[in-house]
Amino acid sequence: MPLTRRHFIQRIGAAGGAGLAYGALSSLDLAPSAAADSFKPLSPTDRPPAGHRRVVVLGAGPAGLCSAYELAKAGYKVTVLEARKRPGGRVWSARRGTVETDLRGETQECRFANGGYINVGATRIPQSHLTLDYARELGVEVIPFSNQNADALVRYAGSTPLNNTAIPYRQAKADLLGYVSELLTKATQRGALDDVLSSEDKARLAEFLRSYGDLSSDGRYVGSSRRGYIEEPGAGVDFGTVGAPPSMSDTIRSGIGRNFAFDFGYDQAMQMLTIAGGMDQLYYAFSRALGGDVVQFGATVTSMTNTTDGVTVQYAVGDRRVNLKADYLICTIPPNLVGRLGHNLPTSVVAALQTPVPVSSGKLGIEYKSRWWETKERIYGGASNTDQDISQIMYPPDNHGSKRGVVVAYYATGARHDRFEALRHGGRLAKAVTEGATIHGKQYTKGIASSFSGAWKLTRHSEGAWMSWPGGARESQAYKTLLQPVGRIYFAGDHLSNAIAWQHGAFVSARSVVSQINQRAHR
Ligand code: FAD
Ligand code: ALA
Repeated sequence: MPLTRRHFIQRIGAAGGAGLAYGALSSLDLAPSAAADSFKPLSPTDRPPAGHRRVVVLGAGPAGLCSAYELAKAGYKVTVLEARKRPGGRVWSARRGTVETDLRGETQECRFANGGYINVGATRIPQSHLTLDYARELGVEVIPFSNQNADALVRYAGSTPLNNTAIPYRQAKADLLGYVSELLTKATQRGALDDVLSSEDKARLAEFLRSYGDLSSDGRYVGSSRRGYIEEPGAGVDFGTVGAPPSMSDTIRSGIGRNFAFDFGYDQAMQMLTIAGGMDQLYYAFSRALGGDVVQFGATVTSMTNTTDGVTVQYAVGDRRVNLKADYLICTIPPNLVGRLGHNLPTSVVAALQTPVPVSSGKLGIEYKSRWWETKERIYGGASNTDQDISQIMYPPDNHGSKRGVVVAYYATGARHDRFEALRHGGRLAKAVTEGATIHGKQYTKGIASSFSGAWKLTRHSEGAWMSWPGGARESQAYKTLLQPVGRIYFAGDHLSNAIAWQHGAFVSARSVVSQINQRAHR
């Protein structure tokens, strides 16, 4: 295949991470731009005719509450049935007083003090997401969330001096990007890319690489103050001391760059945001905005049935069994759980609901009696990364400088999380502390006030963190099947969007269903 400019950029990306590729793209004026949302909010002029007004929504997570909230704007009479005693679904913030019994029967009570919390599910919001628009509309405070912090640490196993030890991100980045820039400069200088780059391209690329890698005027990486200082600079003649970089070979072989591209992802790019005091606050605000008894908590739906002119739902509140009739139904119950309800859905739909595979994930929060990561290690937010099962340690984005703080001691998915999920809470804590201590040393084992963990496959009413469509949603007939209503039943949730594992995905799915119902009601 001829090496076109775009192939050339892809190869830079493969070698040096997306950041280098993006930088090169910008430098050659090829960078992409973002897309827009097309939902037209309903208003009182969309008031539905009789026989189309009553909508029952199953689930008070983001998709359910968003559907109810948008339909209510046009005067639909909405009832939301939620099995849990709280709103938010997989947007779950555990704080003092939270009590949860998992599907294995283990009960944990959260004892974090002073407003401490852990977002067991959703925790960060990209700037492009509707989550921020709903926060604004509902008057919920949004604060910055660091997805990337130069002073956080990386630790990976390996055989170089840079492995099996924690080093600051800034140091790892300065060295690896410095050497990659040097290599590309050399390749260009030696004419290896003459068939794809004009001399003007080469000059611009060299200029970019000099700045990107902090190279010497002859294109070599010889270290940089970007690595940080062994001795901090101070007053007068105290100029500080920059450490010498490791060798190019050790830097490349260590694999320290494996996570550099994380925050170059479209949905993971800084600036990120979160909801002050815990992500669940957004859903308490939705519930308040809906008002009255629109949302019924502790209402576990047991069946949903299409009838000739509407739907009927049965649900349980404690020992009480209740029947409800409505004109339309929006089901936001996770698809892996819908087949357990009584229903008269066609077998093709039941099979489609069983197609996406629930992903394993979970987190554990440790409340420390002091914020040693801020006072001793100067880490304010962001995350340290590792190839151990904990995957990462996330530092609180808020209340900096206060006494206590809750660190997310692991946030893992897949097999790495399965090894935590197999343990009871005490075992999870012990494993997380042992692994975390290889990054932060002995202090990680001391001053622990309390802890709390959540494992999504073991969490009632979810039984999975999010859904994975085998082969991808784009190719999936099951995915397309669930986008269609069955009689008066509509499905919504992040699993029916192109933003799976994001609140935004639940919102766009909900808004799509709201538009479909409103159009049908007025046909
Ligand atoms: P859910 O939130 O699952 O809501 C479904 C609701 O149905 C629940 O409230 C449930 O209790 C209810 N229900 C189930 N069964 C019944 C029944 N029989 N009767 C009545 N009600 C029932 N998103 C972000 O934006 N940012 C993030 O950083 C982020 N991180 C995440 C990390 C993790 C570990 C997880 C698990 C999720 C994360 N998400 C994140 C994704 C976000 O939480 C989901 O996209 C969102 O919650 C999906 O909303 P939903 O309404 O589709 O489903
Ligand atoms: N969207 C989820 C996260 O950012 C998976 O962690």
